[in-house]
Amino acid sequence: AALKARIRDLLTAQKAVLVAHYYTDEDLQSLAEETGGKVADSLEMARFGTETDAETLVVCGVRFMGETAKILNPEKRVLMPDLAATCSLDEGCPADAFSAFCDAHPDHSVVVYANTSAEVKARADWVVTSSIALPVVEHLAAQGRKILWAPDKHLGHYIERMTGAEMLLWNGACVVHEEFKSFALERVRRLHPNAAVLVHPESPDEVVDQADVVGSTSQLIRAVTELPNPEFIVATDAGIFWKMRQLAPHKILIPAPTAGEGATCESCAHCPWMAMNALQNLETVLKTGDQEIQIDPAIRERALIPIRRMLDFAR
Ligand code: MLT
Repeated sequence: AALKARIRDLLTAQKAVLVAHYYTDEDLQSLAEETGGKVADSLEMARFGTETDAETLVVCGVRFMGETAKILNPEKRVLMPDLAATCSLDEGCPADAFSAFCDAHPDHSVVVYANTSAEVKARADWVVTSSIALPVVEHLAAQGRKILWAPDKHLGHYIERMTGAEMLLWNGACVVHEEFKSFALERVRRLHPNAAVLVHPESPDEVVDQADVVGSTSQLIRAVTELPNPEFIVATDAGIFWKMRQLAPHKILIPAPTAGEGATCESCAHCPWMAMNALQNLETVLKTGDQEIQIDPAIRERALIPIRRMLDFAR
């Protein structure tokens, strides 16, 4: 409690606001809400950063989220509790190799997931998050465009199946979602026949195929509040349970299994980089300011174009 109080004072003194992702620890999500900040998915985090008049954005999440905030708000100071918090999708898509892939397919529209570096975004025609990837690709496919998609192959394949778009997929995956196991999920479904199955599309096909709802964090949270089912089996990062419990306290939430048959535990599906965000290093960065996002101005200018396109499309 004393630590939270000190952080509140530092936020006020520095005209700073917290922007936390649904996958961060509940201490951070609750503090963000209690102090006038925002808890959201990456699309809404990006939008909130442009709407607040705070002078400093403290992004609790992973690095690409801090970079997107800086690209959209170059006049603001953007801090993160730990700049080393990366993302397996971002790491698996180095800018040089990606650029060569784009050069080899110049007749394709380049659509990249928000989970990429500023350099990769700078090479893209469109940036999308999981909450609007489907309508954006539908829109492009309706214009007869062929699509080069990076980096998440599972999400890309899901969108390809849903839209029928012609897509070339980069071979990337999320270390958390890739671990959901379809055979064990079948067993958990048999044990909970009244449960609706909620699956994030970064999961493997055989897991997605068992879903009642496939969607981004915001879409899965909405499903828990709107569907009549008393129970939900949830295949995404366990950080999401805090917001689901807050909005639907009477629903029973069951983590989808990540290991062998029957094995279930909440902490199994938790991003190790999201977990690098904590109250302790949040206090430290508010005191020292040393974990500040910096982006090369030329990259920033180029990466802003596809990010703006996404925000305008989503409006
Ligand atoms: C994001 O966009 O924040 C992540 O892909 C998680 C999600 O919202 O589905």
